[in-house]
Amino acid sequence: MNIIKLNAIDSTNSYLIELSKSTLLKDETIVLAKEQTKGRGQMGASWYSKAGETLTFSIIKRFNSLSILHQANISLAVSLGIQKAMTTLFISNVSIKWPNDILSDEKKMAGILIENQVKQGNVTASIIGVGLNVNNELFENLPQATSMYLSSKKKYNMDLVLNVICDCILFELSQLEKTSFSELKEKYEMFLFRKDKITVFENLSGVKFNGKIKGINQTGQLLIETEDNPLQEFNLREIKMLY
Ligand code: BTN
Repeated sequence: MNIIKLNAIDSTNSYLIELSKSTLLKDETIVLAKEQTKGRGQMGASWYSKAGETLTFSIIKRFNSLSILHQANISLAVSLGIQKAMTTLFISNVSIKWPNDILSDEKKMAGILIENQVKQGNVTASIIGVGLNVNNELFENLPQATSMYLSSKKKYNMDLVLNVICDCILFELSQLEKTSFSELKEKYEMFLFRKDKITVFENLSGVKFNGKIKGINQTGQLLIETEDNPLQEFNLREIKMLY
């Protein structure tokens, strides 16, 4: 693995994005930081993690010919890679909460932040940031968070976990350009949290409603069946799952 190890940085995603502007980085270069001072999460949120307990890293993956119309496939592949890695490491009941939170026993164990570089309608490279809670013993004020330790009662060697998770992610990404959306969708939906179960959601106006998750479409939107509507499509900003 081609890996750059840092003690502390604002965000491994930001660092890798900046570095890729000034340096011709080898494909699949990984940036790992012991500590992030300004970790970033989805939708502009910040991502807090404790130094030495959570793995925080980013990978740059280049693509030869991946249309932006298929960019949702990257998120599916990365989620499936982490799901596979966690199962390989004997973590119980691993599922994927749409779009790409990795859960164990219904609690969040890993988050993913994907930032794509686009040229003439194609994704030329993707910066894939992962925060994986490994040896955390406690999460203050975060009742829906968990770690590999809390799930299995075992402490892990961080380098070993990094190896397994990067191998699994990079394997899925290496298959991406020759895998169809329907193949990815089928695998992804096998692990989709609360699929076919009645779930409470909240829309942008704060209105709560019941719906059943039926799956995802090509652009990565969530498909929900409600009483009045056979199938509605939602973006991440439009809906919150209350569980
Ligand atoms: C989320 O669940 O909202 C996504 C969290 C992603 C966090 C990781 S940690 C490594 C990489 N660098 C960042 O600043 N964010 C991602």
